[in-house]
Amino acid sequence: MVKVIVTDREGQVVEVEAQAGISLMENIRELDNSVDAICGGLCSCATCHIYVDSHWVQKLPPREEEEALLVGGSVNYDHEHSRLSCQIIFTEELDGLALTVAPEEF
Ligand code: FES
Repeated sequence: MVKVIVTDREGQVVEVEAQAGISLMENIRELDNSVDAICGGLCSCATCHIYVDSHWVQKLPPREEEEALLVGGSVNYDHEHSRLSCQIIFTEELDGLALTVAPEEF
């Protein structure tokens, strides 16, 4: 069993049993106080914004241009940790990945 450790918008830490081969967003969207993912993973809404824990940042593929532009325009953007969770395919090598759901933007 592989898992993702999620700190939700209420600050609760939740361990999620994850599925490889689908996006990080799809693995965490059903949680309470998690990402909204309004566009369903089309890289057009930025409501799947997360902060990846420092330990894991380098283990992920870099942002593609589209993701970089969209998340870079977020009010809560953090250059090192911000990612769009719909743009990261979860793999077994990412077992234990820790992330924090970014605040909602209004
Ligand atoms: S779900 Fe909309 S950009 Fe990720």
